[in-house]
Amino acid sequence: MRHVTLHQLKIFAVVARNLSFTRAAEELHLTQPTVSIQMKQLADSVGLPLIEQLGKRIFLSEGGRELLSVCHGLFDGLSLFEMIISDMKGVKTGQLRLGVITTAKYFVPRLLGPFCERYPGIEVTLKVTNRERMLQRLLNNEDDLYFFGQPPEHRDVWAEKFMENPMIVIAPCNHTLAGQAAIPLARIVQEPFLMREKGSGTRLATESFFNEHGLAIKVRMELGSNEAIKQAVAGGLGIAVLSAHTLALEKSGDDLVVLDVEGFPIRRQWHVVYPQGKQLSVVARAFLEFVQQESGPMAERYMQGLPGLSREKLLPQQAGS
Ligand code: PGA
Repeated sequence: MRHVTLHQLKIFAVVARNLSFTRAAEELHLTQPTVSIQMKQLADSVGLPLIEQLGKRIFLSEGGRELLSVCHGLFDGLSLFEMIISDMKGVKTGQLRLGVITTAKYFVPRLLGPFCERYPGIEVTLKVTNRERMLQRLLNNEDDLYFFGQPPEHRDVWAEKFMENPMIVIAPCNHTLAGQAAIPLARIVQEPFLMREKGSGTRLATESFFNEHGLAIKVRMELGSNEAIKQAVAGGLGIAVLSAHTLALEKSGDDLVVLDVEGFPIRRQWHVVYPQGKQLSVVARAFLEFVQQESGPMAERYMQGLPGLSREKLLPQQAGS
């Protein structure tokens, strides 16, 4: 084991998670032959195969599974050490790993700007993915903090609400219902809907809202991103329920309008989450505090003037306070 390097163990952990050399190479920005060579050298140093290949698929051997749990302990220990050292130095430097659900990508990067300005020594990595994959990352303890629309159920996590996440109905600006007040739900379900992919939190929230009202919507098309949905709505393919944050950068007078539908906006909140018992790094704690303080006023600023919906209706809590 004397020749095993930290670099090899990091590569091994990524291969073990992806169970694919190709995906691991992509994630690590390495070539596939480099990953294979490093894995071969690691297995030679250990003296046992770590990976088994059956046809095209790879699996961890018993030795590989043991090594993976050693890797997790080692990496946790190292980040704890990093945290202690930066605490001793009294400066906020180090890594901040954030897992961000697709729809949160509209505001987390905006918060990072002023945060990184305040603490220039911090190196941030931001992984944007949908709810299902984010739950997997949380399970594997891959990031420091996670941003969810709805915190994971049945999991041992610490979760805190920090900002409103109103969900609205959007339509093309020339839609017949544009400008009408209090459109009944029974009327809105007659429209064709565009829906996010399975595993999306937006989709889950939309489906449960209509289920709770005993109504079924007609899904005309399924699209894998909020941006694709906005374009398709603007193109006249249908209407959609999205988080108001996805519209925050649209200028009024653009191609989309918010419909005033009974029961909308659906009131939801953003949550910041981490595994119960996880010891947060100094940097992660600083970001957590920053989010709690700054996200509300930031949303207040950038959600002003969404076409078709008043700010009071969109953010009543902030507006009333
Ligand atoms: P999504 O989740 O980006 O996976 O749709 C957002 C949410 O839960 O609100």
